[in-house]
Amino acid sequence: MSTRARNFFLFTLLVNSLTSAKILSSPAELVQTEYDFIVIGGVGNTAILLRFSLTDLAWIAGTAGSVLSARLSENPDVKVLAVEAGASNEGIVETMAPFLGVSLSNTLLDWNYTTVPQEGYNNRTLSLTRGYVLGGSSTVNLLTWNRGADDLWDSWARITDEPGWSREAMEKYWLKSSRLVSPADRHDTTNQEEPSIHGNGPVQVSVGGFPTELDGRVLDTSKMLGGRFPYTVDLNAGHFVGVSYMQSSVGGGQRSSAATAYLNPSQERGNLDILINTHVTKLVQTGSWRGWGKPEFRVIQVAQSSEDAPIQVTARKEILLCAGVIGTPQLLLLSGIGPWQDLKSLGISPILALSDVGQHLTDHPAIPIYYAVNSNSTFDRYLRNDTLFAEELGHWEQTHQGLFVDSPGNTQAFIRLPNNASIYESFEDPSSGPGAGHLEMIFIDGFAQFGSLPQPETGNFLTVLAGVVTPLSEGYVTINSTNPFDHPLIDPAFLTSPFDQYAIVQAIKDIQEFLASSPWNGFVLDAYGDLLNATTDDAKLEYVRAYGSNINHLAGTARMSPRTAKWGVVDQELLLKGAEGIRIIDASVFPSIPECHIQAPVYMIAERAADLIKDRYHL
Ligand SMILES: Cc1cc2nc3c(=O)[nH]c(=O)nc-3n(C[C@H](O)[C@H](O)[C@H](O)COP(=O)(O)OP(=O)(O)OC[C@H]3O[C@@H](n4cnc5c(N)ncnc54)[C@H](O)[C@@H]3O)c2cc1C
Ligand SMILES: *[C@@H]1O[C@H](CO)[C@@H](O)[C@H](O)[C@H]1NC(C)=O
Ligand SMILES: *[C@@H]1O[C@H](CO)[C@@H](O)[C@H](O)[C@H]1NC(C)=O
Ligand SMILES: *[C@@H]1O[C@H](CO)[C@@H](O)[C@H](O)[C@H]1NC(C)=O
Ligand SMILES: *[C@@H]1O[C@H](CO)[C@@H](O)[C@H](O)[C@H]1NC(C)=O
Ligand SMILES: *[C@@H]1O[C@H](CO)[C@@H](O)[C@H](O)[C@H]1NC(C)=O
Ligand SMILES: *[C@@H]1O[C@H](CO)[C@@H](O)[C@H](O)[C@H]1NC(C)=O
Ligand SMILES: *[C@@H]1O[C@H](CO)[C@@H](O)[C@H](O)[C@H]1NC(C)=O
Repeated sequence: MSTRARNFFLFTLLVNSLTSAKILSSPAELVQTEYDFIVIGGVGNTAILLRFSLTDLAWIAGTAGSVLSARLSENPDVKVLAVEAGASNEGIVETMAPFLGVSLSNTLLDWNYTTVPQEGYNNRTLSLTRGYVLGGSSTVNLLTWNRGADDLWDSWARITDEPGWSREAMEKYWLKSSRLVSPADRHDTTNQEEPSIHGNGPVQVSVGGFPTELDGRVLDTSKMLGGRFPYTVDLNAGHFVGVSYMQSSVGGGQRSSAATAYLNPSQERGNLDILINTHVTKLVQTGSWRGWGKPEFRVIQVAQSSEDAPIQVTARKEILLCAGVIGTPQLLLLSGIGPWQDLKSLGISPILALSDVGQHLTDHPAIPIYYAVNSNSTFDRYLRNDTLFAEELGHWEQTHQGLFVDSPGNTQAFIRLPNNASIYESFEDPSSGPGAGHLEMIFIDGFAQFGSLPQPETGNFLTVLAGVVTPLSEGYVTINSTNPFDHPLIDPAFLTSPFDQYAIVQAIKDIQEFLASSPWNGFVLDAYGDLLNATTDDAKLEYVRAYGSNINHLAGTARMSPRTAKWGVVDQELLLKGAEGIRIIDASVFPSIPECHIQAPVYMIAERAADLIKDRYHL
């Protein structure tokens, strides 16, 4: 995104947020301080942006939190409070037009986290985007809709010793969370998707609605090469290997998020209060469960800034912690829950020793590969010409058609490493099974600035975003400050495992093989930049170290494990181990990082969690 385009976005962010809705924008507006459930990382929806200075702190609805808020408030007898802190998604065009999602990083809707220096990336620090807006990261993400391999869900059932997480048992939550709709341009989608495997839930899902010159070539190459690049009609059917049209959380050319699909339709319910612009600063121990010594947490503290005196709110039944992979461990640590020594060294009185809190942070490392192309139809010209850009935006606003209906990239591939790959001499296959890939590729008709290489001033390009979806590198989230308004320390430890280094180099070689085949003849010109001369494996790895980034699929900082296991943070029902009153529902509980984009699995676990809660309390 050019600076001009960025300024344009920031400007429209402000002018478009004039809508208003019934909402509590400060803890002082709470008429009650006791609820059945409190959802942290829930929801928000008001015209607060105009009242914000750029430095105000606020929170926003999470992906899982929105699902929980909507499902639990279906029962009018249940009182739910969702605590969040930021702007409404409503009226913000960048959250609605799929193509503009990439522009939301480092705006008012982003937490603006940074990693600690990443040794695997030449000690560079990376910015990590996390949604700070209604719907959480589902409002700012790049929309790809992947259910994950059947093997993935079955591996989770094995790891957690709980058949309820298996592919078969989770089928109903897949069907309950999303539904397939027509692409924006209503083109014939025969052989581009398998309608029969899709459900009838609130999130709208569709294949790309603005076909590009790459789509046919990608599919033709797959049909021609076969082998490790098989054509797969619908990856979401469960065999998650192959080259396919990409499905996204888009309906009618607009983003479908946890906010638009779950929250906005339920926010007028009298039994759901949504407190925005408010930070949960602590989970408060309120006693010992039935005198057994198990600490009980029924109260949260909230504040709008570190200067405010915190206000306490009680959850009669449960506190539902949905603050995400970074916010959840931060809040646990601030509350005295985590590795005993770490807490003590910060001067926090430990309440519950759980050494896995904040550990096992994992993400998919990624590298964008660029080629010059013999075409003038890529989207590059839109990013260089404000007039053209504004015209296309106007076109989208009036018709919900055109370039802006898709997040860049209409086709996607998940590929397995060769069976005889030399890395298997030192590592076992880390994938959940033969139905899951190791590598991912997304094919984009223009220069997509996903790494650290800046947008070229001239020329037409294609981008293949390549990633490793079975990374073995693991890092952590921890805190070095007891001020809840300070950012935690975040270390995804990208490319520290030799497996990940090997796999990302293999991904580059696969892309080179793919693009060297005949459907690309006369279209693909030279590789762009340093990649041109990266002929050895070592040089390719150096290229990744210099320009690589991530796909924003952070997971695993409060892992689920069997109830009796010594490792892990939550049990099979997502209840915090060794405590009473707290359940964690977000991507931090994933027992392993999915071999795909992870939002659909977040919705699915949130749907199942809502049922577990309803069952437990007979709601
Ligand atoms: C830029 C980007 C692109 C992505 N692209 C894709 C994609 O294409 N496809 C895909 O499947 N996935 C994608 N993802 C990942 C996916 O969106 C996330 O994994 C998922 O939305 C996480 O859901 P969650 O409920 O765990 O957390 P979130 O949705 O992040 O929700 C956590 C919420 O908690 C709030 N919060 C945190 N701490 C506190 C506190 N102390 N008090 C109050 N509130 C708090 C936050 O503001 C936030 O609203 C992307 C993510 C990003 C950031
Ligand atoms: C993130 O950074 C942008 C750009 O500097 C800023 O406008 C915004 O307020 C920041 N977000 C938060 C939540 O502070
Ligand atoms: C990164 O930092 C570490 C520790 O400071 C240092 O040992 C290493 O040489 C640095 N790597 C690069 C590529 O600069
Ligand atoms: C692209 O535009 C240039 C300049 O107008 C022209 O010379 C070239 O032939 C065009 N290329 C294609 C593939 O249309
Ligand atoms: C920018 O786009 C407008 C509208 O299509 C066009 O008239 C103009 O010539 C373009 N400017 C440049 C520098 O290409
Ligand atoms: C793996 O097998 C392929 C073809 O069967 C062969 O070309 C390649 O050299 C083999 N690689 C290794 C590392 O043995
Ligand atoms: C915590 O770490 C950050 C990032 O390294 C640093 O800027 C900050 O000063 C540290 N804070 C404390 C209290 O040590
Ligand atoms: C690649 O190597 C050639 C020959 O050494 C050199 O002329 C060229 O500048 C290099 N290109 C890049 C992009 O580094």
